[in-house]
Amino acid sequence: MSQADQTLAHGATDLRQLLSGIADDLAAVERRLQSELHSRVPQVDEVVRHGYRLGGKRLRPALVLLAGQAAGGLTDEHLVLSAVVEMIHTATLVHDDVLDEADLRRHEDTVNARWGNETSVLLGDFLFSHAFYLASTTGSAEACQTIGRATNTVCEGEMQQTLSEGDFDLSQDDYLAIITAKTAELCACCCELGARQAGADDATVERFASFGRNLGVAFQIADDLLDLMSDEEATGKTTGADLAKRKMTLPLIHARDALVNGPRANFVDLLATADVERIRAQVKLMGSLDYANRTAADYARRAAADLAELPDNPALQSLVGLANFAAARSS
Ligand code: IPE
Ligand code: IPE
Ligand code: MG
Ligand code: MG
Repeated sequence: MSQADQTLAHGATDLRQLLSGIADDLAAVERRLQSELHSRVPQVDEVVRHGYRLGGKRLRPALVLLAGQAAGGLTDEHLVLSAVVEMIHTATLVHDDVLDEADLRRHEDTVNARWGNETSVLLGDFLFSHAFYLASTTGSAEACQTIGRATNTVCEGEMQQTLSEGDFDLSQDDYLAIITAKTAELCACCCELGARQAGADDATVERFASFGRNLGVAFQIADDLLDLMSDEEATGKTTGADLAKRKMTLPLIHARDALVNGPRANFVDLLATADVERIRAQVKLMGSLDYANRTAADYARRAAADLAELPDNPALQSLVGLANFAAARSS
């Protein structure tokens, strides 16, 4: 086994262990996704099933379920809401792969690579609308509002990022605002839904939401590091997409801000070339990978602190473990 494989296998085992307390519930969510997502039209059915069949880490359902367990216990609605958030997540990925012109996702062809952008846009719409239909079956207007608001914020974040492409002056604050919107908000929503559905009071629900938001920021910083430093075999998705799309991520922002005058201008010129090897070498030299890793770890610590005052239980411990996994993951 290569070093990369060992790291990957280790990461996967860690995640399985963290999720072992909700393994049966996750399996039920999987069955629910399968029974919900299909089409009477055979050609369409193939596309719809491709959208979820391969499976990702199922992090968002895990957040709903663990927050539910930690805050008082699971109900049938937790399973429904877990399927809902995974559908929304998958819809955002299908659209995101169009934006990023990516051809690999979850170790398979992206929908756009196999069927084209038109089909991808429509599959994303199908997944969004089915998610909202399914959420409405819980009868909870509050849950529907929480999900609707979070999905709007995700779309705003993706738009803000698209509109910032090629802006090599993007500040760290603007970067953090983008990733908070496009990634962390859905994680916050999952934890909020899980805790609320378990009957937690407002203050407790807010702690869980804040936990999810901090975990989500750590998760996206780690994702951006993987896009720059890892490979498609390990991540199962197109890497180097951020450089190709001229997106500023944390290590690049740190390296740029550590330079002045000519060297800074040269670094910005280098970014515009999207020369991965030279950019990797430069960010390593500037200590920018360490900086990004430290920042991700710091957000994981903030996430843990959000839960520190709550009564301890195994699900709470798993959530803290998940925050650490998010910051240091290899896939
Ligand atoms: C990918 O999310 C999109 C980001 C927010 C970085 P995941 O890494 O959770 O994707 P899957 O669901 O496991 O494939
Ligand atoms: C997109 O971020 C996050 C979403 C809201 C879909 P990325 O573009 O970094 O996600 P990946 O790397 O394609 O999964
Ligand atoms: Mg992408
Ligand atoms: Mg990425």
